[in-house]
Amino acid sequence: MSTVTTTSSSTRAKRGGEGKPLLSIRDFKVEYRTGSGATVQAVRGVDLDLFPGESVALVGESGCGKTTLGLGLLRLLPRLGHASGQVTFNRGDGTEIDILGLDGRDLRQFRWRDAAMVFQGAMNAFNPVLKIRAHMHDTMRAHTKFTKQEIEDRAGELLRLVRLEPSRVMDSYPHELSGGMRQRVLIAMSLLLEPEVLILDEPTTALDILTQRSVVDVLHEVRERLGFSMIFISHDLSLAAELADRVATMYAGRIIETGGVRDMFYRPRHPYTLGLIKAVPPIVGDLPDMESIPGGPPSLAALPPGCTFNPRCKYATEECKEEDPPLLPITDEPGDAHEAACIHWKDVHLQREVPSDLGNAS
Ligand SMILES: Nc1ncnc2c1ncn2[C@@H]1O[C@H](COP(=O)(O)OP(=O)(O)OP(=O)(O)O)[C@@H](O)[C@H]1O
Ligand code: SF4
Ligand SMILES: [Mg+2]
Repeated sequence: MSTVTTTSSSTRAKRGGEGKPLLSIRDFKVEYRTGSGATVQAVRGVDLDLFPGESVALVGESGCGKTTLGLGLLRLLPRLGHASGQVTFNRGDGTEIDILGLDGRDLRQFRWRDAAMVFQGAMNAFNPVLKIRAHMHDTMRAHTKFTKQEIEDRAGELLRLVRLEPSRVMDSYPHELSGGMRQRVLIAMSLLLEPEVLILDEPTTALDILTQRSVVDVLHEVRERLGFSMIFISHDLSLAAELADRVATMYAGRIIETGGVRDMFYRPRHPYTLGLIKAVPPIVGDLPDMESIPGGPPSLAALPPGCTFNPRCKYATEECKEEDPPLLPITDEPGDAHEAACIHWKDVHLQREVPSDLGNAS
């Protein structure tokens, strides 16, 4: 008998983006204390909702706070990191959980059963002296009363779901597996307790292009089968376009634009998202208007006054130096799911044809 509960794609599609958010994040901040006693605001007031069955991609340059946001949501920050704000998880049974208020057993339960994270850098997530079987059994025994056989069955089923052969993988040490296999084992392990939310931090970085492809295909398949919601962190815009329903761009610790895949990649209204898109060469066709974003991200310890993007922004005016604009709805498009934090969003346009087969309607 199957030990893994599956959700049909039609059920998931119906759930996506509707009703009450599964995860509701309001004014979420994280600061790190540095060795010298100074503090760095790595996440500066993030508002984000994740709906049941939905996949949200977090994109942005290195150091903008993507990993910190993921770690903070799961209460996995290092000791010198401090989170504040409101993060509510709405369990299927109607219970509302205040994540920042959890401790002890409730926190452990939340971390695996409600939400799990696949960390940046697959090798570091394993204990090198333990075989994969021990990793699977330890995880399950810490959180369930499953028998040995039940654990074997569930681990085997999940490994097959991520296209691995359990008889080979369970008896291997992490170093005996390829990078792509380790990444898929991590995905299987993170799903052992059937979490409702999976946060994946750069799951394909450091993998060759064909291995990346197989990990992306596996993610598509398991999400289709199990119906969990996903926050997908990546530098890679093409992966975000492929795996996400909605995209959020982060800059200097804030979300500065969010919208459906179609809006974000073909109608970006924040100059930074526009810059990220123009910096990526299209896979087919000519290179119409490729350009890079001048300068580099600001130091989080010394942010520029006003809009933090203003020193790099070709749309900037004097007014942009006065205050950091809030994230507000784009009002000249149908619907209200597209938001940008830019006072000159009406002037920002990317002239590209939207392919008719691109998913996501918003
Ligand atoms: N343990 C820490 N102590 C102090 N500062 C930290 C710590 N971890 C991260 N930071 C700082 O917080 C900011 C955000 O880092 P984070 O790792 O979240 O960025 P990121 O967007 O995930 O980058 P990347 O794409 O390179 O993984 C950076 O400026 C970083 O230097
Ligand atoms: S508010 Fe001004 S500086 Fe900031 S992104 Fe918009 S145009 Fe550029
Ligand atoms: Mg990171």
